[in-house]
Amino acid sequence: MKIDILTLFPEMLEAALKTSIIGRAESNGLISINCVQIRDFAFNKHRQVDDYPYGGGQGMVMQAEPIFKAYESVTEGLSYKPKTIYLSPQGKTFRQSTAKRLAKEKHLVLLCGHYEGVDQRVLNEIVDMEISIGDFVLTGGEIAAMAVVDATARMIPGVLSSEMSFSDESHFDGLLEYPQFTRPAVWHDIKVPEVLQNGNHKLIEEWKREKAIENTFKKRRGMLRNAKLTQKEKKFVEELKKKN
Ligand code: ADE
Repeated sequence: MKIDILTLFPEMLEAALKTSIIGRAESNGLISINCVQIRDFAFNKHRQVDDYPYGGGQGMVMQAEPIFKAYESVTEGLSYKPKTIYLSPQGKTFRQSTAKRLAKEKHLVLLCGHYEGVDQRVLNEIVDMEISIGDFVLTGGEIAAMAVVDATARMIPGVLSSEMSFSDESHFDGLLEYPQFTRPAVWHDIKVPEVLQNGNHKLIEEWKREKAIENTFKKRRGMLRNAKLTQKEKKFVEELKKKN
């Protein structure tokens, strides 16, 4: 997958995205991330990319033309339109299901806004999808872009090694994860649950499911409505409800 990120702060993204798993995925050729400095496409001698809003109001607005030129620089000569995403608090909330869907695209363009906003005309012309990473306001789209790239890239086959298999982790099959433990077996006088140490895989799997359901019940009860549960597990939920 190719990902182009249009931004005024490429250093911010480059540092984060060349690290760890996403960095390795790029070295392995599974993804290719290219940050484009919007300011390089400024058309005045001060390299200014923002201006006062028409109609007055607070702050500055990013101009249409530098963004459009930056967009053209990454789409020139393509026979298709890459899915173009604008990061904004007004967008649809990003979810695991969004990450899975985006992971199937061959080319994404992410636009990071700044200042008080972006000239609506360029948004109308290039953007296919507006994404928010939550109901809070960041100073710019960069941190949101990093979250979207990270969550999307790890859903591309081969990015996670098989040991890191994502089939049973939080938010994958509609349940939160079960608690994890590693050595030592006793820490601060607290023992790792006996069942995890006895090598009975059937019992271990049952324990993991039960704890995942319990964890989901405690922290995100609403998620249980959409989780796939067996008859026996549904009974277990009913028991939890009675106890709580
Ligand atoms: N830009 C500013 N705030 C944002 C948010 N919550 N999500 C995505 N982009 C943003």
